[in-house]
Parts: sequence; structure tokens; C-alpha cells
Amino acid sequence: MSLNIRRATMDDLTACTHVETTCFEPSEAASETSIKTRIDNFPQGFYVAELDGRVVGQVNSGCTAKDDITDEEFKQLIGHDPDGRNMVVFSLSVLPEAQGLGLAKALMECFIKASRTMGKEQILLLCKDYHIGFYEKLGYEKAGLSSSNHGGFQWWEMIFRL
Ligand SMILES: CC(C)(COP(=O)(O)OP(=O)(O)OC[C@H]1O[C@@H](n2cnc3c(N)ncnc32)[C@H](O)[C@@H]1OP(=O)(O)O)[C@@H](O)C(=O)NCCC(=O)NCCS
Repeated sequence: MSLNIRRATMDDLTACTHVETTCFEPSEAASETSIKTRIDNFPQGFYVAELDGRVVGQVNSGCTAKDDITDEEFKQLIGHDPDGRNMVVFSLSVLPEAQGLGLAKALMECFIKASRTMGKEQILLLCKDYHIGFYEKLGYEKAGLSSSNHGGFQWWEMIFRL
């Protein structure tokens, strides 16, 4: 089994959209257009996990100087500021058949390294309560309940200090 973590390119659009729509509920999954915008505008914050030559996982993001990350438009990178101090993870997802192999951890390690190289100060994200432990394992701290109700769910804000 060979694993390759690398930056996404437009050739990964279909595969990344498949990962997104398979891993998230329809009400919360990003559209192909949003994924395209993210690859197009901020490939420095978009990585894929390729297992035996097939894309099975992704992490993508935007960047902002703001600490409030509840803005829905930001997911389309409206307000994206490449010089901002905060990396904001939109989606960390791995296809069910490739889960439990350490791929999300490997993607996040790569993402943290890239964020440090870019001189960012922190990584922020929103997650559901049952993923708090998962992110804590990866080095994140719980920052509190978010005011976001994206997809009709309750979200916790997590923070990783770089
Ligand atoms: C959450 C998700 C990304 C994990 O991917 P994965 O590749 O299976 O995770 P890994 O194998 O890298 O697991 C890393 C560690 O977290 C642990 N872990 C995995 N899922 C967990 C969970 N739900 N709660 C607590 N710990 C968890 C693993 O046991 C592993 O621990 P270890 O390092 O001590 O062995 C994947 O299940 C997924 O895509 N889910 C659907 C999309 C989603 O909800 N993403 C999160 C959005 S906020």
C-alpha cells in the first residue's frame, strides 16, 4: 500500500468532490463549484491523500485575519485573505473504505507543516461534538460552542496554535 500526501490540482476536482459528497450530509457538503474555487484560489491550503494512486482523502481551507469563522460565504472563499494569520479548515474527509488507516492524521500533519511554513499563527475549524476527541488527539483545543448552525447542526470551534 503506498500513500502520497500532496497538494491538490484541478485534475483532482472530481475525486475531491466525490470524497466530499460521500463523507458529508447533503446539507453540509461543499458543491463541486466550491471545491473548484478552493483548488483554484488557495492550493497552498488544499491537500489530498492518494492511496495506491487513487485520491481517497482531502483537507481544504481558506485564510483570514478574522477570528470569527462562522461566515457561510467564506466557504466560497469570499473574504479569503491569503495574508491573514488564521488558517480555517473547511473539510477534512477520508472515504469510508480508507478510514482508520491514519490518513486524516497524515493529511493534518502535512497541513500543519504547510501552515507553519506560510508563517500562520493558528488553525481554526468547526466540528461536531463527536469529533472533539479526534481533533484533541491531533493537538487541537476546544475553543467553545460556535454560533454557526451550518447544515442545521451544532458546531464546536477547535483551535490549533502553530
Ligand atoms: C473524521 C475522519 C476524517 C477521520 O479519518 P481517518 O483517516 O479514519 O482518521 P485517522 O485514521 O487518521 O485517525 C487518527 C486518530 O484519530 C482517531 N479517531 C478517528 N476517528 C475518531 C473519532 N470519531 N473520535 C475520536 N477519535 C477518532 C483514530 O483512532 C486515530 O487515533 P490514533 O492516532 O491514536 O490511532 C473520517 O472519519 C471522515 O472523513 N469522516 C466523515 C467526514 C467528517 O466528519 N470529517 C470531520 C469534519 S469536522
